Amino acid sequence: MHIHTTISELRSALKNRHRLAFVPTMGNLHAGHLTLMRTARQHADTVVASIFVNRLQFGPNDDFDRYPRTFQADCQQLVDAGVDVLFAPDEGELYPETQEYHVEPPAIQHQLDGEFRPGHFRGVATVVLKLFNIVQPQVALFGKKDYQQLMVLRNMTRQLALPIEIVGGETVRADDGLALSSRNGYLSDAERAAAPRLYRTLSGIAEAVRDGDHDYPRLESDAVAELDRNGWRTDYVAIRRQADLQVPMPLENSPLVVLAASRLGSTRLIDNLEI
Ligand code: PAF
Repeated sequence: MHIHTTISELRSALKNRHRLAFVPTMGNLHAGHLTLMRTARQHADTVVASIFVNRLQFGPNDDFDRYPRTFQADCQQLVDAGVDVLFAPDEGELYPETQEYHVEPPAIQHQLDGEFRPGHFRGVATVVLKLFNIVQPQVALFGKKDYQQLMVLRNMTRQLALPIEIVGGETVRADDGLALSSRNGYLSDAERAAAPRLYRTLSGIAEAVRDGDHDYPRLESDAVAELDRNGWRTDYVAIRRQADLQVPMPLENSPLVVLAASRLGSTRLIDNLEI
């Protein structure tokens, strides 16, 4: 695997490559990321990954400083997954001057996770557009675990006519159902044991909807109450349309997804299930 830390080095290394699949990450890789890397291989002859912890998408009270940075172990995993090229810039390379031009996503950036993380999706969309301009891939892959992020980036790519196919990768779960996430490492043993409740809650809602329960507001508020009774502090549980994450109309027939964010101790976990 070739590792490049500057934009100019990366651009010359990629110049004669045929078809590129790109997987942007913030490092601290787990099986979810590696599944994306392997899927990327099915879409292109060159797989490019990036590792960059993007300050722009963290709020002042978020975990930017303590976000786990495990570069050596990440590189080994990327080699094992057959990644060809890694782009690992530092902040000075990607943001040599204050980033004053941003991608401003539509209202959805202020809803669901965006309500609790102001500026987050603007920071994600801005860095991803910048990375797309640097790497110029034909295909880019993002995990469905960050469902709202995937939707924002898919719609950004379509509306700005970027010549890039966006592919969503299925969430990878531990045996007990907990979605793999870099933030799971913050959980104490007791919290880790309690964490699968989030997935069970989402599964219960998905099953109820499939069985014909369409009282979404009640399903959502019951789920929040149940989580919070068990020591969680829940930001939201929401049943939305898959395509645009808007509230479904009564009796609407479009595909749905149930999404949640909740805190166990100081760790904020998110998860979702397509229904
Ligand atoms: O999902 C992530 O790890 C990040 O939000 C991304 C897409 C790499 C942008 O920094």
